[in-house]
Amino acid sequence: MITANEIRDSYKKFFESKGHVIMPSAPMVIKDDPTLMFTNAGMNQWKDIILGTKEPEPRRRADSQKCLRVSGKHNDLEEVGHDTYHHTMFEMLGNWSFGDYFKEEAIDYAWEYLVDVLKLNPADLYVTVFEGSPEEGIARDDEAASYWSKHLPADHIINGNKHDNFWEMGDTGPCGPCSEIHVDSRSDEEKALVPGRELVNKDNPQVIEIWNIVFMQFNRKSDGSLEPLAMNVIDTGMGFERLVRMLQGKHSNYDTDIFQPVIREIESLSGLKYGFTTLQATMATERANRKRQTLPCAWLPTTCVPLHSPLPTGSCRATQRPAM
Ligand code: GLY
Repeated sequence: MITANEIRDSYKKFFESKGHVIMPSAPMVIKDDPTLMFTNAGMNQWKDIILGTKEPEPRRRADSQKCLRVSGKHNDLEEVGHDTYHHTMFEMLGNWSFGDYFKEEAIDYAWEYLVDVLKLNPADLYVTVFEGSPEEGIARDDEAASYWSKHLPADHIINGNKHDNFWEMGDTGPCGPCSEIHVDSRSDEEKALVPGRELVNKDNPQVIEIWNIVFMQFNRKSDGSLEPLAMNVIDTGMGFERLVRMLQGKHSNYDTDIFQPVIREIESLSGLKYGFTTLQATMATERANRKRQTLPCAWLPTTCVPLHSPLPTGSCRATQRPAM
């Protein structure tokens, strides 16, 4: 099995071979930027370069940045502990071009690294492109779509809205349209039932974004308006823990060799047992208990979902959605 450390090294080696200088991770507590409390993306430490107030050389850089997403615009705190792929602290693999290459090379590099170097199956990959925003005066990103079409069939290239496909560092600062790469890691049986493209950005834990390629072209000012940057910038962010999970054939980031040594240590210290079998057993017991108690339920479009305390238990008579 390829280890997490080998994967991180391979990313750095790949971008080094493409003329990038490998840089250290910046501290997670941001200095000299009152708009941000913690480093929430690899590009934070390059903000002044992107805004044109600092020397851009070397124009090609890559690194693995420690990030914390617990507040502000990029806040994952509500997801942590509820799913298998968000973390408060994580590593973001990034490559940057400050006025050097732009969309085409960034897309080609990402493809080459994932498919030629890491051997991910192209059939499992879906990409999104910005659908455009009439109110901001930005057209659909046809250019990115045309570069992706060199690598992927049209039904693997999906339009995305401003929420998912226009990346902004914070309320103000560098921003631009982006293309995300999603991986469908479901079984063949599941893929045959529902095509992956229908599950992109739908919170399916097995169809997840691993890499965001941002085409930085604007600075968002405090009045909300966008001003063009003096140079085009590539800013990419790949979720290291998610990539490792895909390459190690796991269905949870926590099952990778990034987390397992710590989890095993906690197991031995606490006597608790980690794992889906434990979780499934707990859920099965809960289900059985619920059946016995027939708990009250809440309506969802297709299912009846039992509610837990503090509501009193009672009879759930729901079998279908009530007429609206
Ligand atoms: N700056 C790119 C990202 O955080 O997704």
